[in-house]
Parts: sequence; C-alpha cells; structure tokens
Amino acid sequence: MRRPPVPPGPPGVTRRIALCFLTSAAGAIGFAVTYGLGGQTQWEGVCLAVAFAGLATGLSIWGRRLVSVGGYVEEHEGFVPPPDEQAMTAEVLTAPDSPVRRRGLLATLGLALSALGVAALFPLRSLLPWDRTRPVRALKETPWRPGVRLVTADGRPLRPADVPADVMVGVFPEGDVDAGDAPAFAVRLHPERFTRPPSGGHLDGLVVYSMLCTHAGCPVRLYLRGTGRMLCPCHQSSFDLFADARPIAGPAARPLPGLPVEVSSDGYLRATGDFTAPPGAGFWDQP
Ligand code: FES
Repeated sequence: MRRPPVPPGPPGVTRRIALCFLTSAAGAIGFAVTYGLGGQTQWEGVCLAVAFAGLATGLSIWGRRLVSVGGYVEEHEGFVPPPDEQAMTAEVLTAPDSPVRRRGLLATLGLALSALGVAALFPLRSLLPWDRTRPVRALKETPWRPGVRLVTADGRPLRPADVPADVMVGVFPEGDVDAGDAPAFAVRLHPERFTRPPSGGHLDGLVVYSMLCTHAGCPVRLYLRGTGRMLCPCHQSSFDLFADARPIAGPAARPLPGLPVEVSSDGYLRATGDFTAPPGAGFWDQP
C-alpha cells in the first residue's frame, strides 16, 4: 500500500502559518516586557490576546490547509496495522515533505510555545516577598517615606506656618501628588484638647491624617471648624481628631491613619515614615 500523496498546500500558506507563530511569540515577549517594566493591565491583556490568537490561528491554518484530509477508505483489519501500513505512517510523519515537518513550522511553533511558557513564569515574580509591586505589599505601602516633603496639590512645599489654626489643608507627597493612596490633610488643633495622643504625633498641635475614609475610601474633606471633626460626605462617617481620628458616627470602623511629620532644617514639613496603618477601606487581613 502506498501512502496518499501529501498535498503541496496553496502557495504562501507556510509563510502565513509561520507569521502567525511569530506574531504569537511577539505577543508573549511583549507581555513579559510589559510586566517587567512595572505592568500595565490593559497592555498585558492585549499582548496575551495577540499571543494566543496568533497560536490558535497558526494551528488552525496548519490543520485545515496542510494536513491531508481527503477521502481515504480502508477496511477494518484488526487493531494492529500491518507492517507496510506502519511503515507508511512512519513515513508520513517523518518524511521531509511531511505536513507535520513543513519548512520551519516546527521551529516557529516551538518558538511561540516557548515564549508563552516563559511569559507565564513572569507573574510568579509577584509572589516574591521583596517585590515592591507585590499586590499585598502595594496595599500596605504608600509613597510617604522618611524625608518626603508635604506639598499642596500644585506642588508647593509647606512650612508649619502654612497650616493656620483650625483650617484643613490638603497635603500630598512631593513627587507623587497623583498617587491614589497618599492624599492627606493637615490641621492645627489645640493640643490641650487631645483626649488621645495622635498616632502620628503632632507638632505643636499640627496633626496630619490620611484623607481616605476607612469605610469605602471616599475623600474625607469636610472639616467642622472648632469641633475637631472631619466628615466623610459619602455615608456621613465622622472622625474625632481630638481622639486620634477615631470614628464616632457613620459606618467607618477604623480611625484615619496618622502621618508622622517633622520640621526639617530647611523649615519645611517632611514625613518621617509612612501612615501608621494602611489608608482607605479595610481589606482582607485588616482586623
Ligand atoms: S466612604 Fe466614608 S462613610 Fe462611606
């Protein structure tokens, strides 16, 4: 018995399949590079989509256009094929013109699968304890660090005299004004009215707290002058600044985290560390 002739395939098909696999490899490499540069969810999704679409399209064309499908009938002759049929099958699979050994296709398929496999390893880096972008770590750390100056929304550094008595001033970390977890506010209070020491300390009554409500993360912006109370406009949680920003009304259950600050030798307000607790709404390991 002779093996059926392998159809040559329409011109250019091999090149199209190889192009699909190369596209897949490029998508996988793009995913790895995007992830390595700090990650961008939308681009990572696009790269993975390109990688899998290229792979699927290449395999689909390969199966439909190059593999012989046509009209061969044989009688059932038992489960072990005769030797000449085994030899024919081996020849179909291994001959130089075999559809599964087309010029360079195995190499490009291997490249695409290898790139995808390597790209799949990259997210494992997020599990390493020292990775700053690790999700759990990112939830607990903000741009506030020792030495970071407190600035206004337009980037102007603040001195203690820029925070008048009983006026709320929004403050941000210099260089990271747009960071979503960093907004804070400064208020100068009468220290003799403190019923609990501020968690972040105070500078002659000047206290700094996170502006993110501990209920659902809305900005706590409403300061009721003379009362030492901050009000969240979303669901009316109220925080008592004289009692270390403890919630005294509304659904919030945790105090606003404090920010420890100092006056540096140049007279500007600088943080001496991060917030005393993760800012904003509680998450899974919050008590
Ligand atoms: S987000 Fe502030 S009370 Fe709900």
